[in-house]
Amino acid sequence: MTLPMQAKTDGRAVRPLQGQGGPGTSSLDPVTASKPLVRTLADRPIKRARVMAVTSGKGGVGKSSLVANLAVAMTRLGKSVLAFDADLGMANLDVLFGVRPQYTLYHVLKGRQDLAGILIGGPPGVKFVAGGSGMQELADMDPETMQNLLVNLKRLETYGDVLLIDTGAGLSRNVLSFVRAADEVLLVTTPEPTAMADAYGVLKTLAMESPASPRVCLIVNKVKSPEEGLLVARRISKVAREHLSIRIEYTGFVLEDEKVSLAVRRQKPVVMLYPNTYASVCINNLVASLFNTPVPELDGAAPGFFERVAGLFARS
Ligand SMILES: Nc1ncnc2c1ncn2[C@@H]1O[C@H](COP(=O)(O)OP(=O)(O)O)[C@@H](O)[C@H]1O
Ligand SMILES: [Mg+2]
Repeated sequence: MTLPMQAKTDGRAVRPLQGQGGPGTSSLDPVTASKPLVRTLADRPIKRARVMAVTSGKGGVGKSSLVANLAVAMTRLGKSVLAFDADLGMANLDVLFGVRPQYTLYHVLKGRQDLAGILIGGPPGVKFVAGGSGMQELADMDPETMQNLLVNLKRLETYGDVLLIDTGAGLSRNVLSFVRAADEVLLVTTPEPTAMADAYGVLKTLAMESPASPRVCLIVNKVKSPEEGLLVARRISKVAREHLSIRIEYTGFVLEDEKVSLAVRRQKPVVMLYPNTYASVCINNLVASLFNTPVPELDGAAPGFFERVAGLFARS
């Protein structure tokens, strides 16, 4: 099977009904099909954000860096983005954005603030909810608290075009709750066999959730070449299809790039600090793939993505 390099999505803001495919699924929605043509005011669709949960099996694969950078890259398509740091064990979106929040999720979970009240500004066009540190005690919150948080999260869906959730690694009960609340799961892995095995573990858990499991989009981070990304995606996709009967989509790859950690040290997303570096170009490509749009031009002089990637390998 050949994996598509571009995910088939139309970027619509309405969540598919449970058990249905997401954008790109051609089956006719029986509920919509049987609806009367005349709509009442109450029927009027409320615009709500497209919810994407960024998750992984193994830690350290680049989820938080991706959330920070995808958020900024999405604003360049004119999207307003809300990033939500739900990694209750190792929250760090605030550090990646170089912002010191006064209030974090910690205060919400302790009942001292409400979720909307702790929203803060990150880079232009991005608002976020900081996770806060020292949350380990709350990492395994009881179902009632989790439910409460999800209800509040739902209210935030009207705040922007995209709600990007940075989950912790591994599908704990909490992470699974965020994943269930999402339209799409952006499953991140690296080419390391351990990361791939753990990504498979996540898919296995999701398969048990079936048929309510959301659409799964795979991102392969820290690759040495586009071919390596495709190879990893093909392997994971094959086992998911054959052993779990799950269909996953390959959204794309991000090249390993030392500018990513340089940017982390300067507490700014790499797409802002080094907009033309390889990782930034890849991230723009991911966003274009997720929204099924052409890759935005960074500046007139910048060569196209494939030229740049080709240039990289010509030199190595
Ligand atoms: N494409 C990349 N190239 C090089 N280093 C990367 C890349 N993506 C992430 N990193 C580095 O990997 C480390 C882990 O990233 P992080 O986003 O914190 O992972 P996670 O949130 O999954 O635990 C960080 O030091 C980050 O700078
Ligand atoms: Mg993280």
